[in-house]
Amino acid sequence: MTESDRSAPARLVSFEGIDGAGKSTLIAGVAEALRTRGVDPLVTREETTGWLGEAVRRSIDERMDPLATLFLFLADRAHHLAALRPELARGRLVLTDRYHDSTRAYQAVTLADRFDDLDGWLKEVSHDWLITPLRTYLVDIDPEVAVGRMADRGSRTNYEKAAFLGKVRSEYLRIVAAEPERFVVLDGTRPTVELVRVITADLETLGALTPSAAVDG
Ligand code: TMP
Repeated sequence: MTESDRSAPARLVSFEGIDGAGKSTLIAGVAEALRTRGVDPLVTREETTGWLGEAVRRSIDERMDPLATLFLFLADRAHHLAALRPELARGRLVLTDRYHDSTRAYQAVTLADRFDDLDGWLKEVSHDWLITPLRTYLVDIDPEVAVGRMADRGSRTNYEKAAFLGKVRSEYLRIVAAEPERFVVLDGTRPTVELVRVITADLETLGALTPSAAVDG
């Protein structure tokens, strides 16, 4: 990979937040709003819907060693990015429901006793292939509210417990504090339509809604 590949101003936009924050509904609303303006974003997610993503889900469901789960998340992401790279290279706007910051926030909690510096390690193993998002929206919400919202979903994994999600939220806020220029923090209790307006205006300001133009890489 060349240096220009890494520095291409890819229109990669990620959405982050704890489980139950309302990211999926929000992304669907943003995509719909953009389509009415003639922009056709690629909407995607991690873990992916492919077999690597399925492996990630199994490793969580079967409570495998969190270190094994970390490597599966990274494998899934490497594969995901390989698929996204051609779309990004031709200037397509890509909206992803979770990305690298999910690993930084969630695995900081699941692997708290195994890494002194997970962020540093992640940077080391991924800087050659990871694309930094143009913008990341953190949908912030109180973990109790999030868990309340998920009560109907019927999932029983540890990932959905308020205490755990509270720690993940703290990790997200730590990441935002370290990179405030990349993030916009949104109040997840606000109506979706309002958040969609904020996001589309922000994307416009970033120049991400102009017609696709080929970018380096
Ligand atoms: P989801 O399929 O409902 O998004 O659930 C995936 C879970 O995995 C969710 O709790 C977030 C978590 N996760 C990580 O722990 N690390 C990651 O890198 C990603 C993408 C998700």
